[in-house]
Amino acid sequence: MSSTPSRINSQTPFSTDLGLKGSHALVTGGCGLIGKVVAHALLAAECCVSIVDITDDCPFDRQDANICFVKADITNAEQMDQAFAKAEQRFGPVEICVALASLDLSVLQQSESLADMDPKTWQRVFDVNANGTFMTCQRWLRSIRTAAWDPQKASRLRNVSLIIVGSESGRFGVRTMAAYAAGKSAVQQGLLRSLAEDAPRLYSAARVNAVAPGPVATERFEEERRRYGDEFYYRECQATVPPAKPIPPEDVAMTILFLASQRYSGSVHGQLIPIDAGKTGNLVWTKEELAERPKPGDGVN
Ligand SMILES: NC(=O)c1ccc[n+]([C@@H]2O[C@H](COP(=O)([O-])OP(=O)(O)OC[C@H]3O[C@@H](n4cnc5c(N)ncnc54)[C@H](O)[C@@H]3O)[C@@H](O)[C@H]2O)c1
Repeated sequence: MSSTPSRINSQTPFSTDLGLKGSHALVTGGCGLIGKVVAHALLAAECCVSIVDITDDCPFDRQDANICFVKADITNAEQMDQAFAKAEQRFGPVEICVALASLDLSVLQQSESLADMDPKTWQRVFDVNANGTFMTCQRWLRSIRTAAWDPQKASRLRNVSLIIVGSESGRFGVRTMAAYAAGKSAVQQGLLRSLAEDAPRLYSAARVNAVAPGPVATERFEEERRRYGDEFYYRECQATVPPAKPIPPEDVAMTILFLASQRYSGSVHGQLIPIDAGKTGNLVWTKEELAERPKPGDGVN
């Protein structure tokens, strides 16, 4: 007697649950404009969330049983050791780590040309955005390695995922702030690719990815638009962006949720995901700038 093969229909079980409930996620920079949306999204997915930030101004309720706030500077090794220790004591090994804290481009003093950049700016940006991100990733790796060899802790590891927050600047460059662009390139390329080989040797299911958002529609971006005008807005998020709009912070948070979830992105590893609405690059010259451009040799002959 031949049995009829069963066919998939709309009632056939298929879970769309992210599977993040109860996982421990640590977010650096979780008090910032994008970080707070990311932390909120992880809380909504029922994660236990540790927020590590240099500021005391935490927008979350510190009494919430699912939140652990730790004040720490990501460039300070001792403070980062303490931050991870405190987070682990509260919620167990750090499964998901979102390395998000950085000096954002919008808080940095830019110069017309690299020729005029203060070397101290380069150093400061690299201290936070590159070294601080390295420090964060290193502590996540250690947390995973320790847990992997402890049967009790290992049984808690389900969504082992590191997400590095890079930037479109790391892909396209920033003429007026090369340090920011170079620091982001370092973490979203060299560090990412190295960790993608390293992490699974410490825990086979560990995944490492990065995201590169385009200009995000934060309160600060709106303020910049008011300050610098429509020309700034056009250059940043319209001229080379097909939908001609900035990125909602929620879109960054949702992509991070996707990457955090073993169930949703279990085979996505070592990838840099642009979240930039298809931005194709920077607008190099406006027509007005071209018209006024000094010609090669001007001022010399
Ligand atoms: N805003 C954008 O348009 C945009 C676009 C692409 C990428 N990004 C990246 O997204 C991330 C968040 O950007 P944002 O716009 O929310 O910036 P933000 O300034 O609002 O947030 C950054 C957070 O990091 C924290 N921080 C800074 N230095 C720290 C340190 N040494 N130790 C610990 N915490 C520190 C700050 O206190 C702040 O809470 C950054 O990595 C930024 O480079 C932002």
